[in-house]
Amino acid sequence: MNAPGGDREHDAAPIQAAGEPLLLRLSALMRTARTYDVSNQAFRRQLHEFTALLKRLFEEEDELVLVVVADYLYLNGVRIKAHTGLLGPYHALMADFERRHVGGLRFLPSVTDAEVERFFQIFVASEDPSLAERLPETIAEAAIANILVVPAADIDAEDLARELEEQPTPKGERARARKVFWRAVLGTRKIVLRARQNGRPDLRQAKRLVQPIVDNILKHEYAIVGLTALKDHDEYTYTHCVNVAVLSISMGQQLGLPRQALADLGVAGLLHDLGKMHIPSEVLRKPDALTPEEWGLMRRHPLEGAIMIARMPGLSTVMLDAMRACLEHHMNYNRTGYPDVDLEWGQATMSRIVAMSDCFDAITAHRAYHSRPRTAFEGLQILLGPNRVNFDPAVLWALVRSVGLYPAGTVLQTASGHVVLCTSPNPNDVTRPYCRVLVRPDGQVPSEDAPETWDPMPEHDRALRVLLPEEHKLATTDLLAA
Ligand SMILES: [Fe+2]
Ligand SMILES: [Fe+2]
Repeated sequence: MNAPGGDREHDAAPIQAAGEPLLLRLSALMRTARTYDVSNQAFRRQLHEFTALLKRLFEEEDELVLVVVADYLYLNGVRIKAHTGLLGPYHALMADFERRHVGGLRFLPSVTDAEVERFFQIFVASEDPSLAERLPETIAEAAIANILVVPAADIDAEDLARELEEQPTPKGERARARKVFWRAVLGTRKIVLRARQNGRPDLRQAKRLVQPIVDNILKHEYAIVGLTALKDHDEYTYTHCVNVAVLSISMGQQLGLPRQALADLGVAGLLHDLGKMHIPSEVLRKPDALTPEEWGLMRRHPLEGAIMIARMPGLSTVMLDAMRACLEHHMNYNRTGYPDVDLEWGQATMSRIVAMSDCFDAITAHRAYHSRPRTAFEGLQILLGPNRVNFDPAVLWALVRSVGLYPAGTVLQTASGHVVLCTSPNPNDVTRPYCRVLVRPDGQVPSEDAPETWDPMPEHDRALRVLLPEEHKLATTDLLAA
């Protein structure tokens, strides 16, 4: 299979470098096209910048294919990394594509400035659903021959899933965890897209996705919990659903729940935000404060999710558990939160677990009072500090046991003088996570080819200090993904 939209033999580095400026230019152009008339100076300037960039890129590339697959943007088959500075344009563009049922855009080298101008006029105007439907025809009628719209349906995310399926099970624990994790992300996307069509989720499929996660956790393989630290700092992705499922299963195990309950808990975690498909994506991803009406919509998603699950034929425990978790995952221990209920309302244990993992995963996504998203360590401090009244103490304890005191992604300075990156939790000792050594006490950096790991941190060492991202300036996400 080819990587989405391109040839995987292609040298990825130049394309990798081109992704970011292209995305920035494209979203700036869309923004100005929405606000100004084509004759306006601001629009003309953006148009000029964009076409100049295209020309530069065509010196190396035969075509430029920008597509969305399973929550990521790819340029000529190479995933554009969504680092924090790029998240705004990244998601704005994905939302623009999604609203128009567009899977991607293909630019050919002979594209002219006039074509680009006409194209963006039409593209921006097609925000209206009736016009969106006719977008490919409208573009053809406007004689735009060198910009093609790739319909969303033509991009086969299942191909990616199938490819994962066909690969032999990898040997290392971390590699095995990664396979299970990404299969769950791609599978969740499929469940959500189908549910969008027929109004109800496929619970059997969800069960199939969480089973291997439960197996991992029951075998005490916690590398998969470490993978939940691989965030895009956006809580509206399929990755968020999988993170919540993984964290919930792990917490359930700490609380001593039996295998069947763990599987049900995983399904509940995977589907907890299902009701969000009723909220327009511009509301979900709105960077500013929501209006009262928008808040009203937002507060309804627990109920909408429960209704969708109730539409399933038959009645099973997994269905009832998932329904309750949907309904109750924004309720707090002291019954604040939403939906509004009496103090007497008995929030199910599973819902408390899902609510806790949801908060832990989402707290690192918000940037409200920070110039950067919070680290998982900072998130944990908030949950254990002022916010602890919102949670069942037993469930909070289970979270700490699951992610450790230094969650994956944390950079530590240890008593022995090492600088290490925490990669996986160690439920046997929350103070000594699994780590990768970044700097040795003598200042030496272990080679990339032979990474030095602690499985887990040795007993004679201990964490001395947590380093903030601005202190260490390391790309922890890239290191975790490696
Ligand atoms: Fe939610
Ligand atoms: Fe959520």
